[in-house]
Amino acid sequence: MARICLALTESTLEENLKILTGYSGQIDMAELRCDFLTEEEMVRVSEFPGLTDLPLILTFRKVCDGGKFNRDEEIRLSLMEKALNGNFSFVDLEEGLHAPALEKKARERGIRIIRSFHDFDKVPENLAERLINSLHSSDEIPKAAVMPKSTADLKRIFEENEKLGDRDKILLGMGTYGFSTRILAGVMGSYLTFCSKEGGVTAAPGHVSPEVLNNIYRFRNINSETVICGIIGHPVMHTRSPLIHNEGYSKLGLNYVYIPFETDDVKEFFSLAEKLSIRGFSVTVPHKNDVIPLLDEMSSGVKAIGACNTVWKKEGKWFGENTDAEGFIIPLRALTELKNKRVSVIGAGGAAKACVFALLEEGCSVTIFNRTYEKARLLAEQMSCSSAPLGPDSLEALKESSDILVQTTSAGMHPMEDRNPLDFYDFTGEETAYDIIYTPEKTLFLLEAEKKGCAILNGYEMLKEQGYKQFKLFTGTEYPRA
Ligand code: ATR
Repeated sequence: MARICLALTESTLEENLKILTGYSGQIDMAELRCDFLTEEEMVRVSEFPGLTDLPLILTFRKVCDGGKFNRDEEIRLSLMEKALNGNFSFVDLEEGLHAPALEKKARERGIRIIRSFHDFDKVPENLAERLINSLHSSDEIPKAAVMPKSTADLKRIFEENEKLGDRDKILLGMGTYGFSTRILAGVMGSYLTFCSKEGGVTAAPGHVSPEVLNNIYRFRNINSETVICGIIGHPVMHTRSPLIHNEGYSKLGLNYVYIPFETDDVKEFFSLAEKLSIRGFSVTVPHKNDVIPLLDEMSSGVKAIGACNTVWKKEGKWFGENTDAEGFIIPLRALTELKNKRVSVIGAGGAAKACVFALLEEGCSVTIFNRTYEKARLLAEQMSCSSAPLGPDSLEALKESSDILVQTTSAGMHPMEDRNPLDFYDFTGEETAYDIIYTPEKTLFLLEAEKKGCAILNGYEMLKEQGYKQFKLFTGTEYPRA
């Protein structure tokens, strides 16, 4: 089982101990980042292991390796030598560090050496070979923290990891592209994953907290048998989908995990998905169209909408589905009768298309309003409905089609909360207003509608409903709604 290792980055031993104690039961070990301590505290480091039962890593990280220690190397080595009098379980020594006396002392005291390598800029070529060559003896644990900047880089980390075999090792990708490597330590056979306290200074880019590892990802349950699912997008790290899917796995006791994968290249992601035997993944902006040519088969909904938000493995083939349309309509149907209703759809992008498709299936009469009129016209032609430009000149058309107003653009979404694409429209209070945005919970569009007494709906129910449908496709089991 991969361990959860909390990086301790307070300036005193006392504060570090407080953090450590607070996380009792949630972590398996800790790394004392001595480079974050004050100079007075640095000389007392050997006392620290006596204060806890947890295994500890001793680390004095230099600035060039991403740490804070900026004094002479001689001072660093002497401080480390003194610290090794404490009962640390591990000491972190960098690749290229020549300190035979330190190594000898660590070995004599049964302190295992982690031979570490950092690259904050890239994933170096032949990483596995480089790590193995950096070891001074076979019982050292090779560690690399590298910076993937693309899906191809991330795939390379998993490839290099395979080359390291099943020896003790620590291989981590930093930053948003590397996020999955922090969660999947148990799949990769990594000895541990590093994390930082909730809301604090993170010791390295991309550190998550023990709360996130335990409560969202159930990190300790992840092993080589765990079925991997996820979501691809760019950007994607803000998504709430992992909360929905992972909670479902947890309630049903399924050995599954659902992870956000920052993705710049969908073709590379399909290749990574094969490598990791990913069972299924959600697709969000901007990849809902790009994935279609890479599918083996697709549903009639994907064909009609021209966008795919769900990909999963079905009998060895990649199958594409669109659960947005159904996810969109279920909460609206629960709120109001739809047949023969006149609906205005604001926006003419991919999201609008799924909404229009679902509304027409319900027997609504739809008019599409868009800032760039040509896009509204083209979409309306494709879907056999009406269109108009978005703006005060279309006020009459909007009023005539306003039983339900559906807002599908990104205007009003965080960080553009101050925008309202319908700021020229006065609600009567009779309309149903539906914004598919869910951050913020209420956009300006919804706040205006609510003020006038309209029934309102945001996109969170849609997110959940489309997620429940994906959950069924990925696991074969209904989502545990209760
Ligand atoms: P998606 O696939 O998420 O729908 P998209 O295809 O980029 O994303 O479409 C975004 C939609 O939001 C478009 O209809 C866009 O209008 P334009 O076609 O004129 O670009 C609309 N949109 C984005 N920002 C907007 C704003 N500030 N005001 C009005 N419409 C906006």
